[in-house]
Amino acid sequence: MPGKVDALLDEKRIFKPSKDISDGSNIQKWMENHGLSSYSELIEAAARSPEWFWDELAGELEWFSPYSDVLKWDPPHAEWFLEGKFNVVHNALDRHAKGPNKDKTAYIWEGESGEVRTLTYLELYKKVNTFANGLKRLGVEKGDVVSIYLPMIPELPIAMLACAKIGAAHSVVFSGFWAKAFRDRINDAGSNVAITADGFKRRGKLIELKEAVDTILSQTPTIERVVVVEHEGLEVSMEEGRDIWWHEVVQGMDYECETEVMDSEDPLFILYTSGTTGKPKGVLHVHGGYSVGIYATLKFVFDLKDNDIWWCAADIGWITGHSYIVYAPLIMGVTSLLYEGTPDYPDPGRFWRMVQDHGVTVLYTAPTTVRMFMKYGEKWPAQYDLSSLRLLGSVGEPINPEAWIWYHKHIGGDRCPVMDTWWQTETGMHLITPLPISTLKPGSAVKPFPTIEADVVDDNGVSLKSGGGHLVIRSPWPSMFRTLYRDPERYVEAYWSKFPGVYLSGDVARLDEDGYFWIQGREDDVLNVAGHRISTAEVESSIVSHHAVAEAAVVGKPSSVKGEEICAFVVLKETSTNLENFQHILKDHVKIEIGPVASPSTVKIVSDLPKTRSGKIMRRVIKAIVRGEDVGDVSTLANPEAVSELKKAF
Ligand code: WT7
Repeated sequence: MPGKVDALLDEKRIFKPSKDISDGSNIQKWMENHGLSSYSELIEAAARSPEWFWDELAGELEWFSPYSDVLKWDPPHAEWFLEGKFNVVHNALDRHAKGPNKDKTAYIWEGESGEVRTLTYLELYKKVNTFANGLKRLGVEKGDVVSIYLPMIPELPIAMLACAKIGAAHSVVFSGFWAKAFRDRINDAGSNVAITADGFKRRGKLIELKEAVDTILSQTPTIERVVVVEHEGLEVSMEEGRDIWWHEVVQGMDYECETEVMDSEDPLFILYTSGTTGKPKGVLHVHGGYSVGIYATLKFVFDLKDNDIWWCAADIGWITGHSYIVYAPLIMGVTSLLYEGTPDYPDPGRFWRMVQDHGVTVLYTAPTTVRMFMKYGEKWPAQYDLSSLRLLGSVGEPINPEAWIWYHKHIGGDRCPVMDTWWQTETGMHLITPLPISTLKPGSAVKPFPTIEADVVDDNGVSLKSGGGHLVIRSPWPSMFRTLYRDPERYVEAYWSKFPGVYLSGDVARLDEDGYFWIQGREDDVLNVAGHRISTAEVESSIVSHHAVAEAAVVGKPSSVKGEEICAFVVLKETSTNLENFQHILKDHVKIEIGPVASPSTVKIVSDLPKTRSGKIMRRVIKAIVRGEDVGDVSTLANPEAVSELKKAF
């Protein structure tokens, strides 16, 4: 992404949070309470003893019985809070429902059509308990994996919490993915129970989710029961003995359900994410360390206080939603906004009207959303009162300095610091991030969170003081994923083998003279489309699964709104097909196979793809062509003439 990188290299502006914000911040108070007089003192103390730092934070949560040790690090395997007995749901729900927060609003839910529902901590607790009891009646046991495919409705966090409560792991699949993605993830996880809904609306259009799920259930041999939420009141077919309505599951169930006593290291969830091969990776997170890490980062980075209204405008189907819509905000006992729909529906003022009407104080969204609103223009946010906002956040991809400045000015009224948080599905929590006491540079994720040893290294693993290199993490952190589900070799191979014992993030970054990190994007064959990780291999396999296709190569092309767009070059089996129409057919094909986010924006039909003599598709060359860059030396290719054809096609 040369354009992006050059712009980042030139960025010299700095911003300092106001004294009010920094002096009143949670991190400042925490340092005072621990006798630390400056942030550098905290960083040093935490580096000297990460165990001390994480022990202090773990001590702010409730444990059924104490851990014996904070950390056992046997690279690449870490265990945190050993032998501790814990359940995230006890911390996220039970203790609030039985304490002073019981009548506090946990979630304000707004549907796309404008309907608003609220749930207090006590109400949420009861709903989780009745559903947890219902799951038990359906035969779900501790250690099972329940697969969930739900839109952004309250039943989604309720289902996740109910699983965690009884010790089952959940595997949530983003509802914007198509049902085949759900099928593959069910089969990888081996779930007996699936949870879905009749349907939901996206931009006013009805998506018939249950009907889609029906098409894959003949290919999921482990599934015995399917729970269906009635959300849109659709007529759906319910198979006797297999399908059951959510409202029937909870009917007559007790409001109390004992919270399973889990070991710190017991699985909490699996979340599938894209890797360099077509097969998604089942990232596994556990109860203890995960909870401590996400709690600490939400508390210090987004600085939430008792009366905050927190809006993490992500989908729960991604890690951002798991960590910062479901678990961490509930652990902290704050009020969160949960939004079902699209940010610019029915008009580009929707998002800002919601900030105004619900009095949102801290807003966390993605650069792609910021850039979209930049395009609509500041006249939209200007119509609303955004003075409730105190802090802003960004996640998912590098935020261009101009988008940062726009966000800071037109949304944050020049007073809200922007927390550009770098992390991944695998990391579970923010790893490189500003705090509300940091000096900010637009486009930089600033510095590692206390105890995190991040570094930028060359191919030999040697630290680089300037220039781009592999972003690696040298130290373990509590919310780190523990393995890839049912694929422990790939865990080691994909993340820990290039530099043994060091975590390879897959991102390229650069350090500046002040030690600030500038993340530049993925270095592997993974695309970042509107903040969503999509593997080129997955899209290629989907295209090639079409009967008329012989071969496909997929590359990313920089886009001013989405970050990257997907470009596909396709070789057909028969050249006689109607080419015009075929491009649409392929786009729809990918939409149905994977989901709208993975559908290519450009499909070019060509007669050949550039290849090495050993037959490997040269994506580097194709990438250069779509970016209008020099393709370099192509004389060693098996078929250099393919390059000129591609150039013409593009
Ligand atoms: C990839 C992880 C973490 C939640 C959302 C995505 C990119 C994430 C930033 C940021 C630059 C970022 C990286 C990373 N990314 N945050 N602040 N600046 N890039 O989770 O799907 O696991 O994707 O998103 O490339 O590797 P994910």
